[in-house]
Amino acid sequence: MVPKRLFVTAALVAPSSAWTVFTVPHTSGRDDTPGVMQALSVGNVTSNATILFEKGTTYNIFTPISFPIMHNVEVAIEGNLTYPTDIPTIQAEVASSSYPGAWFAFSGGTNVTLRGTTDPNWGWVDAHGQAWWDANQQTNRPHGFAFSKVSGGAIRDMKIWKPIGWNFATSGSSNVQIVNNQILAASTTGRRQVYTASQCYSRSLLCPGFSAGGTNLSFSSNYVVNGDDCLTVGNGAKNIHWIDSYCEGGHGLSIGSLGEDGQVADVENVLIENTVMNNTLYAARFKSWTGGNGAARNITWRNIAFNNVPFPDGPPPPSNTANNTRVEDFLFQNFAGTIEESVSDPIPSPIIFSPFILATRSRKVRA
Ligand SMILES: *[C@@H]1O[C@H](CO)[C@@H](O)[C@H](O)[C@H]1NC(C)=O
Ligand SMILES: *[C@@H]1O[C@H](CO)[C@@H](O)[C@H](O)[C@H]1NC(C)=O
Ligand SMILES: *[C@@H]1O[C@H](CO)[C@@H](O)[C@H](O)[C@H]1NC(C)=O
Ligand SMILES: *[C@@H]1O[C@H](CO)[C@@H](O)[C@H](O)[C@H]1NC(C)=O
Ligand SMILES: *[C@@H]1O[C@H](CO)[C@@H](O)[C@H](O)[C@H]1NC(C)=O
Ligand SMILES: *[C@@H]1O[C@H](CO)[C@@H](O)[C@H](O)[C@H]1NC(C)=O
Ligand SMILES: *[C@@H]1O[C@H](CO)[C@@H](O)[C@H](O)[C@H]1NC(C)=O
Ligand SMILES: *[C@@H]1O[C@H](CO)[C@@H](O)[C@H](O)[C@H]1NC(C)=O
Repeated sequence: MVPKRLFVTAALVAPSSAWTVFTVPHTSGRDDTPGVMQALSVGNVTSNATILFEKGTTYNIFTPISFPIMHNVEVAIEGNLTYPTDIPTIQAEVASSSYPGAWFAFSGGTNVTLRGTTDPNWGWVDAHGQAWWDANQQTNRPHGFAFSKVSGGAIRDMKIWKPIGWNFATSGSSNVQIVNNQILAASTTGRRQVYTASQCYSRSLLCPGFSAGGTNLSFSSNYVVNGDDCLTVGNGAKNIHWIDSYCEGGHGLSIGSLGEDGQVADVENVLIENTVMNNTLYAARFKSWTGGNGAARNITWRNIAFNNVPFPDGPPPPSNTANNTRVEDFLFQNFAGTIEESVSDPIPSPIIFSPFILATRSRKVRA
């Protein structure tokens, strides 16, 4: 198949206000990443531009894409994207010194949007995670989308199919809206493994849905079926709002883990609300390490409907030794649902948990 030509809609307007549409070329059987990287290196698609993966095409993203700092750029995933299907190819990329830290690595800029499509048949990013889960393969697993250091923008209408590792991380970003994304990481083979730290519901191991680091992040209408945290709010996060979402099969809506190796944690103003938690291990949880410093402040979980959840307001608490991350102004409000009682906590604690007196735990749940 002949590579598609670059398509430009630019002419007839003043250069300073021109908007460029770069349609990513595709070659059957070949890696399509070099075509993207080549265009990015020219520099005319890194501002005032749409980088379009067009509908009707399944693109081969056989090597990671590393986006430079961009301004006013929309990356539109309207076609399907596929990772390599074989595990060693991906492991070699992740192990490589040039690996940018995620399969899709954004490195900053202003007004950057990553969007998929609401067309149900297209816009899927297929990582072929099933083979990894079935093999219990955890070495050199790629993270999905690192949306780092972006000021202003969005992640919306993205659809992830069987991811291998972390999905979306927003570290160092600010003023980003994360709306109407789907992550489907449910296993369709093998035995369903429930509620243990090492073998999750879906057997999609260590695979958080959204990892919120940064400031002024708004998450709404997201749909996550996975085997790890649905949302995890990390150190440095401030002004995080999560609303109107659905989480199934994973670990819950989490803060942390904080304070590893004495780290000074700083998390504040987090509101997590109006979410259905279905067959998850926890609904709301806080994770920190003994010996941590700093604080998590003003954290609210409210209007949480849970179905078949063993620990709606986990986790169990603290060891009272050493320094611990302080918790201030935590509120759990209006939780309702059914508790799964047959499951024992994978992180046993000698102390009975009270949802309103949170403290640190003596060891980490691998998340
Ligand atoms: C991008 O467009 C804005 C106007 O929307 C303009 O001010 C800016 O100079 C443009 N940037 C480039 C690199 O063309
Ligand atoms: C970017 O610039 C290169 C070199 O001038 C040109 O060949 C290419 O068509 C441009 N791409 C777009 C999308 O405008
Ligand atoms: C921000 O980017 C979007 C495309 O994602 C564009 O439509 C919009 O004009 C940009 N905003 C500014 C202020 O340039
Ligand atoms: C796109 O990928 C998804 C997930 O792999 C798949 O279900 C769907 O059939 C694909 N769409 C097309 C048109 O091939
Ligand atoms: C976050 O939002 C607040 C309130 O709108 C604003 O004052 C602050 O500058 C924003 N922070 C960043 C990093 O954009
Ligand atoms: C424990 O906290 C105290 C008081 O904040 C601080 O001076 C000390 O360095 C901390 N110790 C460790 C091991 O982090
Ligand atoms: C606590 O966080 C909420 C949002 O989560 C915010 O509206 C409120 O202003 C914060 N309170 C303080 C005292 O900062
Ligand atoms: C919970 O998940 C199960 C398994 O996927 C599904 O059959 C059920 O409809 C879901 N329940 C709710 C309340 O969403």
